[in-house]
Amino acid sequence: MDHAALLKAAVDARKASYCPYSHFAVGAALLCSDGTVYIGANIENASFSPTVCAERVAFFKAVSDGKRDFTAIAVSGGREGGGPDALVAPCGVCRQVMMEFAKPDAFEVVLADGGGNPKAYRLSDILPLGFGPENLA
Ligand code: THU
Repeated sequence: MDHAALLKAAVDARKASYCPYSHFAVGAALLCSDGTVYIGANIENASFSPTVCAERVAFFKAVSDGKRDFTAIAVSGGREGGGPDALVAPCGVCRQVMMEFAKPDAFEVVLADGGGNPKAYRLSDILPLGFGPENLA
């Protein structure tokens, strides 16, 4: 699957967002190295802190399904009911979850540029000097 198709899956995934507090709907589409795609949307909570981002929902669905090898994740976000904003990037906690399961120099984070086209970043570029499993090996 190419970056444009993965980004489209993330845009579509926003429809399932549960965001009654922020009204900011995020979708994510995680590409496994076997070609499988897992989607996720942000899920908020009245107590606020249990809120989970779209990226982590996608990762935890995949990992709990036995997947361990990942190629890329696309992320799309914007006001609920509206179109996606440009360059909605993963929060720090989600970058740390990616670091746990992905090779930072190879794993790509795909965002929409101002024109809605995919723009890819390597995880190692958006999480420099990250702490990961190899630090505990
Ligand atoms: N959110 C995500 O789902 N992913 C991100 O990368 C940034 C933020 C969600 C969390 C919360 O439900 C809403 O966006 C506003 O912060």
